[in-house]
Amino acid sequence: MAFFLFSLFFLISSASACDSCVYQTRVAYTGAEALSSGACGYGSLALGFNGKHLAAAVPSLYNSGTGCGACFQIRCQNTTLCNRQGTKVIITDLNQNNHTGFVISKRAFRAMAYKGMDRGLLKLRLVNVEYKRIPCDYKNHNLSVRVEELSQNPNNLAVQFLYQGGQTDIVEVDVAKVGSPNWTMMTQNNGTVWATDTAPAGPLQFRILVTSGYDGKWIWAPNVLPANWTIGVIYDSGVQISDIAQEACLPCDNGGWK
Ligand SMILES: *[C@@H]1O[C@H](CO)[C@@H](O)[C@H](O)[C@H]1NC(C)=O
Ligand SMILES: *[C@@H]1O[C@H](CO)[C@@H](O)[C@H](O)[C@H]1NC(C)=O
Ligand SMILES: *[C@@H]1O[C@H](CO)[C@@H](O)[C@H](O)[C@H]1NC(C)=O
Ligand SMILES: *[C@@H]1O[C@H](CO)[C@@H](O)[C@H](O)[C@H]1NC(C)=O
Ligand SMILES: *[C@@H]1O[C@H](CO)[C@@H](O)[C@H](O)[C@H]1NC(C)=O
Ligand SMILES: *[C@@H]1O[C@H](CO)[C@@H](O)[C@H](O)[C@H]1NC(C)=O
Repeated sequence: MAFFLFSLFFLISSASACDSCVYQTRVAYTGAEALSSGACGYGSLALGFNGKHLAAAVPSLYNSGTGCGACFQIRCQNTTLCNRQGTKVIITDLNQNNHTGFVISKRAFRAMAYKGMDRGLLKLRLVNVEYKRIPCDYKNHNLSVRVEELSQNPNNLAVQFLYQGGQTDIVEVDVAKVGSPNWTMMTQNNGTVWATDTAPAGPLQFRILVTSGYDGKWIWAPNVLPANWTIGVIYDSGVQISDIAQEACLPCDNGGWK
């Protein structure tokens, strides 16, 4: 943890700090169903995310699953066909095709075109784009916790985080009985899933360390899981994240994106 924060600080202090770095890549499209059944493990729930504007990202952005649920704005560079605001997608899958940075849902791809130009854009199949990370904005959801099938007995607890707002990565997750200071650290198990085999009896509170600003910030959710938590149920954490973690890069988004 200390090492993580130190290296983040070092990285940022050695380059220009930025809310959103702008990068270039190429983007192709596929059906939303293919992306929802993807590596992030959201299943059919993903079809309810972000108006089906879903994306598979290359390993560097997928980041062993830590990148799942991150939001990006992507705009294509064909000035005849493409509008300037582009499309906003959420990562639900891993893209292993090394010719494209993202494979996005058809609906998200079309949204990059000027009105009436979407068929022309779809015909190209593959376009050059620029992209940047953006905050995820959930108006109707708090950060939520889905109890995973791995939670086979009361000591084995595995949870997946859903509807994570802001522009941060989860670095550490601790769980404790509500009102108890005895925190148990969970381990990251395949991306958005965090697990422990020494879970205390519920009701349970969580504290979550996220990247924020130049270092990290603890988010405390004081009452999340009831004593009778149940596999497959999604519980509202009662809190939401709106922080933005700084990135280090050139060029930075100069504010020309809307
Ligand atoms: C992570 O989970 C996804 C979806 O359930 C699966 O496809 C993938 O193989 C898993 N990866 C690891 C390393 O377990
Ligand atoms: C941009 O789109 C037009 C119209 O489809 C096409 O003729 C042109 O080749 C495209 N340019 C690039 C760079 O893809
Ligand atoms: C892309 O992947 C293919 C097949 O997996 C491989 O042959 C090729 O060398 C890769 N290209 C790059 C640029 O990594
Ligand atoms: C703290 O929690 C752990 C894991 O649930 C448990 O094994 C340990 O006995 C608890 N310690 C105290 C002092 O309650
Ligand atoms: C869990 O307990 C609550 C009351 O505390 C109850 O309303 C709910 O039905 C219970 N759920 C299950 C699955 O037993
Ligand atoms: C989020 O949690 C708060 C309690 O902290 C609650 O009042 C609010 O209704 C929740 N919002 C949503 C969208 O569920």
